Amino acid sequence: MSKKKQNYFVCSECGYESTKWFAKCPSCNEWNTAVEFTADVFDDTVKTSPSEILFLTDNIKEPVKIKTGFKELDDILYGGFVESAVYLLAGEPGIGKSTLLTQISSNIGKEKNVIYVSGEESAEQVFQRFKRLNENINKNKIGLVFENSLEKFISLIENLEEKPDLLIIDSIQTIKSDKFSSYAGSVLQVKEATRYLSEYCKKNGITLIIVGHVTKGGIIAGPKILEHMVDAVLQFELEKTSGLRMLRILKNRYGPTDEILMFEMTQTGLKAISEYTHYFLKDYKNASGNVLTIVKEGSKLIPIEIQALVSKPVYGNPRRVTSGAPLDRLLMIIAVLSKRLRLPFESKDIFLSTSGGFKISDTSSDLAIAYALLSSLFDISTSNSIIVLGEIGLDGNIRNIRNLDKRIDFAKKLGIENIVIPSSKENYEKTLKIKNLTDLVKRFFG
Ligand code: TYD
Ligand code: MG
Repeated sequence: MSKKKQNYFVCSECGYESTKWFAKCPSCNEWNTAVEFTADVFDDTVKTSPSEILFLTDNIKEPVKIKTGFKELDDILYGGFVESAVYLLAGEPGIGKSTLLTQISSNIGKEKNVIYVSGEESAEQVFQRFKRLNENINKNKIGLVFENSLEKFISLIENLEEKPDLLIIDSIQTIKSDKFSSYAGSVLQVKEATRYLSEYCKKNGITLIIVGHVTKGGIIAGPKILEHMVDAVLQFELEKTSGLRMLRILKNRYGPTDEILMFEMTQTGLKAISEYTHYFLKDYKNASGNVLTIVKEGSKLIPIEIQALVSKPVYGNPRRVTSGAPLDRLLMIIAVLSKRLRLPFESKDIFLSTSGGFKISDTSSDLAIAYALLSSLFDISTSNSIIVLGEIGLDGNIRNIRNLDKRIDFAKKLGIENIVIPSSKENYEKTLKIKNLTDLVKRFFG
């Protein structure tokens, strides 16, 4: 296949690409941001010999996995980092990205070659962290690079006798290619450095981990545009009540997504937690407006607390404020409660939160949210802890949820015997079946 050159233009502000020059970026409306690039494009007028067709019965090599040294992390990654794959580790500053990668490098560096490029911290800081977190400092094969220029550190790697197995870039926002004049951290630099590094690493069989900072508002300025350029995205978040660090797999070409793993930050670095139940329930009290539910994140079941406060509006318009639960879900539940039960929710201020603002995304906690709202409205609570599971339909009927049996077993393991579930044909011991919202009110608040 022959190649020809094609020119294209990239907006240096937002990364918008076009084959035509533009004065004003159609995407972000900035003026004079078009930067010209030249790319190799394939000339499709030339006949090419067909490449081969593979069949499922053909022998294809299984991807080689590199163990991270954290058993729990290997589990959710299906065996470890995949050789030649590109990973993005995104998270707010201070969350523990460098700490985690220092520990992972130390583990992998016992047998394999690791290059850690730090564009952010001084050599003293990085050395100190490695020494503090790593007992066998003398027996590893970790090379540290303090260089922001992409071309310079690539040439350092090129001059090595042995190519690294793992390359860590901490962080992509500090890396600058000398080919472009825009500053490090600009969309253009971040995109081009990632494109170059992924190509380089795939060609050389190197696993690449790129650190990307997320701004406080949660906008993944740099990392967002990188998500489709990498094979997997690991997002690091702080769980506010427990202070645990939660690692979420948002995208994974080599395994399941939506998996999570909790870490605790200690004096000796991050410790993966396998038993995290009590972290979320330790402050739970039976009071009006409080209830427990069980959410499913990836393959993990997590008990969380839901709190609601329904009160007289302080200002004219009633307010709805949520933390952790999606606002539109709350609005829908309020609408159904008001319409089906004729209860005065619409004129009230309503506040809803999950333990520590734990983000819930599935609808299995609808019924628990409704329970918390009703419990606060009527100011009634039970003396025993109660777990509520179920989705609410627009008609006020309670619908079944996925993995109900697993959640019930889990609730029993926690020692909670009052379990409210959607009515179903199956018989579960020690559960209370609820058909619709009227049923719920009659049973608990009648
Ligand atoms: P860091 O890993 O540098 O975060 P990031 O790279 O995401 O910006 O550090 C996270 C925080 O953790 C920092 O405030 C210091 C603290 N920390 C510990 O408590 N224990 C430790 O062993 C280490 C290395 C850091
Ligand atoms: Mg850092």
